[in-house]
Amino acid sequence: MNFPKDFYWGGATAANQYEGGWNLDGRGPALTDFTTGGSAQTNRYLTYFDKNGDPKKVRTSIVSSDIPMDVTFAVFEDEHYPNHMGVDFYHRYKEDIALFKEMGMNMFRMSISWSRIYPLGIEEAPNEEGLAFYRNVFEELKRNGIEPLVTISHYDDPAYIATKIGWEDPKTIDLYFKFAKTVMDEYCDLVKYWLTFNEINSMLMLSAFVPNYPEEKTRLSYIQLHNKFVASAKTVKYAHETYPEFVMGCMIAGLVNYPLTCDPKDILAAQEKMQNYFWYCGDVQSRGKYPSCSKKIWAQYGLDPEFFNKDAQLLKEGKVDVFTFSYYNTTCVTTHKDVAKDGAGNLSMGAKNPYIHYSDWGWGVDADGLRYILNEIEDRYSLPIMIVENGLGAYDVLEDEQVHDPYRIEYFKCHIKAMDDAIQDGVNLIGYTPWGIVDLVSASTGEMAKRYGVIYVDLDDEGKGTLKRYKKDSFDYYANVIRTNGKEY
Ligand code: BG6
Repeated sequence: MNFPKDFYWGGATAANQYEGGWNLDGRGPALTDFTTGGSAQTNRYLTYFDKNGDPKKVRTSIVSSDIPMDVTFAVFEDEHYPNHMGVDFYHRYKEDIALFKEMGMNMFRMSISWSRIYPLGIEEAPNEEGLAFYRNVFEELKRNGIEPLVTISHYDDPAYIATKIGWEDPKTIDLYFKFAKTVMDEYCDLVKYWLTFNEINSMLMLSAFVPNYPEEKTRLSYIQLHNKFVASAKTVKYAHETYPEFVMGCMIAGLVNYPLTCDPKDILAAQEKMQNYFWYCGDVQSRGKYPSCSKKIWAQYGLDPEFFNKDAQLLKEGKVDVFTFSYYNTTCVTTHKDVAKDGAGNLSMGAKNPYIHYSDWGWGVDADGLRYILNEIEDRYSLPIMIVENGLGAYDVLEDEQVHDPYRIEYFKCHIKAMDDAIQDGVNLIGYTPWGIVDLVSASTGEMAKRYGVIYVDLDDEGKGTLKRYKKDSFDYYANVIRTNGKEY
């Protein structure tokens, strides 16, 4: 057993998928409030046109204005918007936190809904009722001895900013910074661990896996992403200057790519994927500078390096203290034309790996990949590391008030073992907050049926159910892991 004695064992959520109360107490709409629900039959698809101009669809995990089917850009009465209620953390936070305490969790990852604090995003003064809600939550966590890990922005920009201003406009940097400063100043006595943006590299995902994705849109994504980097750096710099006790983190989607074969061309292709979609973002936030591959990328899209270089000093000053990332699956990259690219996963597409198995949603389960990427991150950054999302999205059955989920326990077992091994390898891993510790709305499909939690919530894809919480078998399993500090997994 190698887990350090003050290891953080927790669970993770995000406001838009968990909280609900979407129009209560002065909250404004977020982009995610316009996202309709899904089911296994109506998963989200993205339409694109192939080289012959024929429309094609790919399954996608990304909420974006490029997805015509499921983002309605207004609220229609005959549509179901699962994020409006989430699983009602807004009214049930005390009950959930009591369960976290019972489990022994010492960290809880949650996000702050930007539009609960600034309803449109552009107001001068924050919404006091919104501020009061999170203060109550943080105080409740403190009473229960649970350290909050707060994502300032988790996929839910205020709808006004998302539709009328956009990240390409530097004005959004200032609006974000105002929001970030407000919440850091407000909760400085209660929150020490902060992440500036969830999965910042997801900005590049459409261009990464949608065939023939329009070049001008990719160009725009790089510009928007840069503005997010600047907003993050400003926030980290302010935090370091004002609250030296704060621990600031990045959050990178763990898109881990393997070469499908030992064909050197596949090796190079996989390396390029990692550079473009993982290290590109990790480097800016953790090393404070763009990696050397950036010049090639910018040239490829006709982007002026000066646009990126003008903020070099700020990026340097806004380096994070801890590297955090999500990890669900790995995908394989190949240059071989005859291989189907059907190895879907979190935000990524690739070829199927014959050595691993796949979840009900086609995400490759690969615990060794976790050990692998942990070592890579350690070697590159030498920063403390946290895995702030990980888990198995699966169908669960509630029967006689019980949920037997041996598949989830198996998943935990091999991933916690991989963490243990990685620590033995020398990785400075300090925390683990598995995703959706309480069942919540799926980001990619809008389903409730895709459950990650060790706590079951009685709610279905149509929004029907009592919202009552039940402990799954994995609850006791995880509680024991925590109790023994990872000795028994
Ligand atoms: C991560 C996101 O990419 O994956 C979460 O940060 C998301 O918001 C999680 O919920 C799992 O994805 P999904 O689509 O199964 O909910």
